[in-house]
Order: sequence, then C-alpha cells, then structure tokens
Amino acid sequence: MSSATTRPPPAHQRSRAWAHRHLTGLQGLGAEEIRFLLRAARAMAEARPAERSDLLHGRAIANLFFEDSTRTRLSFSLAAKRLGAEVVDLAGAGSSVSKGETLLDTARTVAAMGVQALVIRHNASGAAEAVARDEQSGGRVSVLNAGDGRHEHPSQGLLDALTLAEAFDRLETFDLTGLRFAIVGDIVHSRVARSDIAALTALGASIVCVGPPTFAPDSLRALGVEVERDLDAVLPEVDGVQSLRIQFERAASVSTPRDYAAGYQLNAERAGRMRPHAVVLHPGPFNRGIEITGEIADREQGPRSLILRQVANGVPVRMACLAACLGALPT
Ligand code: NCD
Repeated sequence: MSSATTRPPPAHQRSRAWAHRHLTGLQGLGAEEIRFLLRAARAMAEARPAERSDLLHGRAIANLFFEDSTRTRLSFSLAAKRLGAEVVDLAGAGSSVSKGETLLDTARTVAAMGVQALVIRHNASGAAEAVARDEQSGGRVSVLNAGDGRHEHPSQGLLDALTLAEAFDRLETFDLTGLRFAIVGDIVHSRVARSDIAALTALGASIVCVGPPTFAPDSLRALGVEVERDLDAVLPEVDGVQSLRIQFERAASVSTPRDYAAGYQLNAERAGRMRPHAVVLHPGPFNRGIEITGEIADREQGPRSLILRQVANGVPVRMACLAACLGALPT
C-alpha cells in the first residue's frame, strides 16, 4: 500500500521537500521527507505565536475519531487552533456513525461541508488510505491518519523521532545513526510500532523488537528490524526503550498480564540494567503495573522517562503535518 499520498497539492502550494496532500503513513516516505516534517515541527515549536497563528486562517479541520483518543485528538485540535484554523469534532457515539453510516459516507458528508482536512482515526487498517483515494472525500480534502487499526500512526512516529532527536542532541541533523532502540511489547497489534520503525530506521537508528512470539513474531524482520525474546539481555545494549500497551481490544489471545509482566514489564529492576544515558518512552495510554510501572513512567521518580516530552512534542508535530499537507508551510 502506498503510504504517502494520492494527489499533490496545486503547484503554487507545493514545497520542494513535501509534495503530498495526504499523510496516511510513514512507510514509503523518504528520509528527507521525514526530516522536512521534523524540521517544520521544530520551527513550529520555536515560532512566536504571531509568526504562525494565521498559517491556516480561514481553513477548517474536522476530527473524525471512530476510536477513543485523548492525546492524539486533543493535540490535533490544539495544533489546528494554534495555526488559526477552525476545528470541528465528530465522535462515533452521538453522530450518524452510531446509525451505521459508513466511513466513506461520513467522510464525503463532512468533506461536502467545506472543510479542508479530515483527521481520521478508525479501527480498520487502511481506513485513512481508503478515504484519501476516494474521489468525493479525499479527492477534495487532505486526509491525515490519526491511527488506523494496526497499520500506522504517522504523527506518533514523527513525535517519537522528534523526542529522541531532542534527547540525543540530534536536532540539527535529525540523523539517528549509531543509536539503537528497543520497542517492547505488543508490536503485532501496534500502529505506533510500525510508524516508529519507519521513522527511526529512515533516520539511521537500529531497532530491536522485543516480546513473546505472539506479540513480536519473527516476520517483523521484514520491516528491517531485529527480533529478540529476552528483554533483560537487550536492555544493557540499547539507548532507549519504547514500551507499548497490550492492545486488549485487538489482541485475540494474550498471555495473562502477570506472565507478560514477568518477562517484559519495564520496572525499577529492569531500568537498573539500562545504560546510564538510556531513555524510556511510551506512547500512552499505559496499563500501569502491566507493561510499565509508575516508578519508571513518572518523571519525578523515573528520570529516564520522556513520556510527557512525547505528549508535548505531539502539538508542534501535528502543526507541521497539517500545515505541510495543506500547502501552508513557507517554501
Ligand atoms: C496509541 C494509539 O491509539 O494508537 N495511543 C496514542 O495515540 N498515543 C497507542 C495505544 O492505544 O496503545
């Protein structure tokens, strides 16, 4: 599946480094395109409000979230508002979605109201891509994927890359060569893992996926990563760990949380095996006491934790994604 786009913006809006109208995934994007978005995010974070508050003035963004969300929905909304856009929200419950309206019918309906972008979260892998390819919705508006099933979550992959570049002083180059990160847990059901792998490997990092075979199957190697079972053996060798939530809503069979925690929970004892500079990430929401303990996740106790930096970086990353897809970034 092609990840980036179906049709570029009009020529006058195109930037040399970013020619896409949609952002449905990071797989298939080039390293320079990923770096372009990360540099734009950094510029958004540093810009004074007056410098960026009308980049999307007069445009409207619709959030179509068919699955629950806290961080992604709020930060897309804040991002759009900080760029001067209007934001409208549609939630599954309380809308015609609960009457059985299909994704494409909903997208066409909202697109017909004159919005310029749809931010879509849906439990079907490929949902955002399907809307992007649809003449009557994606043909008219930009589509940004805010998480589709177990496929991709591109803005999360970008914010994780930004967080790691910041932590390892690579903000000038966004080159992560020489760094090695572990992604631990329910990788098979994780759209975050797929987008992280795409972003971090494109930027030069090496990735090791760690978990039991049901969560980290050997087939993940096709994505250009290593696969290991023994977290305790991996921890002393990595510069950081992204711990993932067990996706109970997607996982048909999971080992019991207690068995899982024995092998894969990030806790104080395991953090003690990590290199002194190594960092801890988690995209949230976390199952406290299953894949990660509070003493590691909470910054005041777990000084390695970058979890709230990830959240903070989500806003400028989503500003950059919206502005880039809507052709509003200075070229
Ligand atoms: C993730 C998601 O929904 O994909 N959360 C997020 O967006 N920060 C991860 C998850 O649900 O576990």
